[in-house]
Amino acid sequence: MLGATHYTLLATSLLSLTSGSVGSDCKCPYGDACWPSDSEFEHLSSQISQPIIRPTPPQAVCYPASNPSGNCTDVQTNIFNGNWVSDRAGAYQNINFQAYISPNGTVSSCYLNATLGFPCEQGNIPPIGVDARSAADIQAAVRFAAKHNLRLVVKNTGHDYLGRSAGKNAFMIWTHHLKNITYNETFIPEGAPTTENYRALTIGAGVQWREAYAAAEQNGRYVVGGISGDGSVGAAGGWIGGGGHSAFSAKFGLGADNAIQFTVVTANGDHVIANAYNNSHLFWALRGGGAGTYGVVTSVTYKTHDIVPVTLAFVTANFTSPDIAKSVGTEFFKIQPKLADAHWGGYSFINQNSFLYGMIAPNVSLADANITAGPFLEFVKKTAGENNTMTGMIPAPSFYALINATSSLPTTSGSQVGGNVEIASRLYTRKLYENQSEKMAETLLSFPEGVAINHVAGGVVSQTDPDSAGLNPGWRDALAEVYTTVNWEDGATAAQIQAQRDVLKGQIATMEALEPGAPSYVNEGSLYEPNFKHTYFGSHYDRLLAIKDKYDPRGLFVVASGVGSDRWDAELVCPT
Ligand SMILES: Cc1cc2nc3c(=O)[nH]c(=O)nc-3n(C[C@H](O)[C@H](O)[C@H](O)COP(=O)(O)OP(=O)(O)OC[C@H]3O[C@@H](n4cnc5c(N)ncnc54)[C@H](O)[C@@H]3O)c2cc1C
Ligand SMILES: *[C@@H]1O[C@H](CO)[C@@H](O)[C@H](O)[C@H]1NC(C)=O
Ligand SMILES: *[C@@H]1O[C@H](CO)[C@@H](O)[C@H](O)[C@H]1NC(C)=O
Ligand SMILES: *[C@@H]1O[C@H](CO)[C@@H](O)[C@H](O)[C@H]1NC(C)=O
Ligand SMILES: *[C@@H]1O[C@H](CO)[C@@H](O)[C@H](O)[C@H]1NC(C)=O
Ligand SMILES: *[C@@H]1O[C@H](CO)[C@@H](O)[C@H](O)[C@H]1NC(C)=O
Ligand SMILES: *[C@@H]1O[C@H](CO)[C@@H](O)[C@H](O)[C@H]1NC(C)=O
Ligand SMILES: *[C@@H]1O[C@H](CO)[C@@H](O)[C@H](O)[C@H]1NC(C)=O
Ligand SMILES: *[C@@H]1O[C@H](CO)[C@@H](O)[C@H](O)[C@H]1NC(C)=O
Ligand SMILES: *[C@@H]1O[C@H](CO)[C@@H](O)[C@H](O)[C@H]1NC(C)=O
Ligand SMILES: *[C@@H]1O[C@H](CO)[C@@H](O)[C@H](O)[C@H]1NC(C)=O
Ligand SMILES: *[C@@H]1O[C@H](CO)[C@@H](O)[C@H](O)[C@H]1NC(C)=O
Ligand SMILES: *[C@@H]1O[C@H](CO)[C@@H](O)[C@H](O)[C@H]1NC(C)=O
Repeated sequence: MLGATHYTLLATSLLSLTSGSVGSDCKCPYGDACWPSDSEFEHLSSQISQPIIRPTPPQAVCYPASNPSGNCTDVQTNIFNGNWVSDRAGAYQNINFQAYISPNGTVSSCYLNATLGFPCEQGNIPPIGVDARSAADIQAAVRFAAKHNLRLVVKNTGHDYLGRSAGKNAFMIWTHHLKNITYNETFIPEGAPTTENYRALTIGAGVQWREAYAAAEQNGRYVVGGISGDGSVGAAGGWIGGGGHSAFSAKFGLGADNAIQFTVVTANGDHVIANAYNNSHLFWALRGGGAGTYGVVTSVTYKTHDIVPVTLAFVTANFTSPDIAKSVGTEFFKIQPKLADAHWGGYSFINQNSFLYGMIAPNVSLADANITAGPFLEFVKKTAGENNTMTGMIPAPSFYALINATSSLPTTSGSQVGGNVEIASRLYTRKLYENQSEKMAETLLSFPEGVAINHVAGGVVSQTDPDSAGLNPGWRDALAEVYTTVNWEDGATAAQIQAQRDVLKGQIATMEALEPGAPSYVNEGSLYEPNFKHTYFGSHYDRLLAIKDKYDPRGLFVVASGVGSDRWDAELVCPT
């Protein structure tokens, strides 16, 4: 394969150019003597467009319990609202990522319930940062962090499941207000021949999916993007950095397959264009090689697609016996290859007691959609019992009209925002689906809480050259992503949290045993993967590391489970 050879040569030549080392010093934490002085911050202030921000936990206004310092009702009302959370520099979608657990077992956090008996503390929220409104703001912030050897954290919406947009005593670049969106009918990537042009949407780093979808729709186009009930996931941050999956991926590819150009501030403070013609290695890494690792992205340009009519096929069912659950589960896995081939995509949830299924058929009539999925819907009805099953097919003129009409697709496992959540995932191959549907059902139904299954691969994802993007090449053999979750209550002790993490580790082992060596989606992954390099990046790891070392030789951009992160201690502060 041409691509593979090309990148092998690339990796070799880059490795010979760079030593691949990080500095020998620990990064400087907030509060330490090395922390920049007020006058140094004043100097930074003079270079940026906004006042320096001091992010705080949103729950802080609920303290002290006897006399709240602000409108606690407002926080209680909105803490499950992804857009409200993303509007606050110090807020995280899953609030466990605000918490810091110190080695002595103290949990430092700020709980919504101020009468639980804990103080409100900063935890993992970076205490100071820049509210970026321009590339120049980001350049100044990057140079400042590099000069003073600070631990730099890039935060967009705070959706991250690995806590990569948080960091104790770190310095934050907040990208949320970079909201520009431009649609161009004849976009030519910088340096490309004029014959190569796209109907493309260029979005600033802070744009969220609800905004990107609306802008594409206004121009009569569709852009491949993520789904959350409120459209609050970032469209140009972590999502694309990890590869970006969509209900439309089997039809139009992953985010990594749709991005055609980035603008990026690199570790030396330069603002550069990365595409197939300029900084092409960086362009390769930015598409799925892991968020927050290569630079600060200031904008992404995506190809757009024709708007097509869609049909949503849905099922909800209650199972009255384990045999019924297994029978439905087996059939469910068995039919998926056929649906992926027909470019269907969507989301589902299954456990011993219930089944939730919403799949979208792009660009076919209701009658044709029913030919593909109708028999499965009938099977569930017959097996689970008519009185325990609800099925339906909803046609809509476009995906946008569908999400607009239903306000969100069926949710997989309750509210996805506002709790204490860690997750772990596996991308299972078509081969497993084809040959071992019964074993899949047995294994995945063994999780008491059940599993969510994102049908976001196969089809075009599998037809794309595995070496065309930095994304884990394992994605190309996959048919779907399965993930499990663990949860705990606010106020849980370090030991209780550890017990949940141990449950998650057990789930990882069970998922791994079903298909040894299967990859995991880094954006919906766990900090406890025993072999994160292979599991998240596969055979692309070494090439990604060479690119990182070229663009960030001193390790300014370091995130948990990221490429090169194993050179740092668990706190990502000191070199190992
Ligand atoms: C409710 C919910 C729904 C989701 N739905 C989907 C889905 O449909 N499809 C899917 O693929 N994933 C989905 N995810 C996972 C999602 O892709 C990740 O959480 C992702 O990290 C979010 O990126 P963000 O920029 O919005 O969040 P943040 O937490 O702010 O950032 C995540 C990571 O990206 C880095 N980053 C952010 N902006 C930049 C930038 N400009 N330059 C460099 N690095 C940057 C941060 O440093 C951090 O490492 C979902 C997650 C949640 C919680
Ligand atoms: C507090 O927040 C609630 C909910 O957002 C709002 O209805 C109320 O008006 C706010 N109260 C004050 C005093 O601002
Ligand atoms: C635990 O460590 C933290 C610092 O991480 C410190 O503030 C706290 O006092 C310690 N608690 C105990 C009980 O030692
Ligand atoms: C807050 O915590 C206290 C003490 O545990 C408990 O009595 C109370 O019910 C909690 N309030 C809410 C709203 O959960
Ligand atoms: C956003 O667009 C405005 C108007 O075109 C422009 O002045 C500004 O520089 C843009 N900002 C960024 C960060 O690109
Ligand atoms: C669209 O892209 C073309 C080619 O890159 C460029 O010449 C033109 O100015 C762009 N138009 C807009 C509106 O940005
Ligand atoms: C793009 O690459 C070309 C050729 O390498 C170079 O001349 C040009 O300056 C680059 N442009 C940018 C914006 O980096
Ligand atoms: C949708 O189907 C129509 C007619 O079958 C076809 O012409 C068109 O190319 C299809 N569009 C896409 C994006 O698949
Ligand atoms: C789908 O096909 C089945 C037969 O397989 C039929 O009973 C059902 O009415 C059809 N549903 C729709 C929405 O066309
Ligand atoms: C389903 O419910 C209806 C109405 O309650 C009842 O008449 C029927 O017997 C039930 N069917 C089965 C298979 O239990
Ligand atoms: C499944 O059970 C739940 C809880 O009892 C009920 O609310 C729901 O309507 C049932 N769904 C179906 C399709 O029977
Ligand atoms: C989305 O919903 C809004 C408000 O309900 C409506 O005005 C708009 O036309 C809808 N858009 C589409 C594409 O259906
Ligand atoms: C399924 O198993 C059969 C027999 O073990 C094998 O021949 C076939 O290649 C397998 N299918 C796939 C897709 O690997």
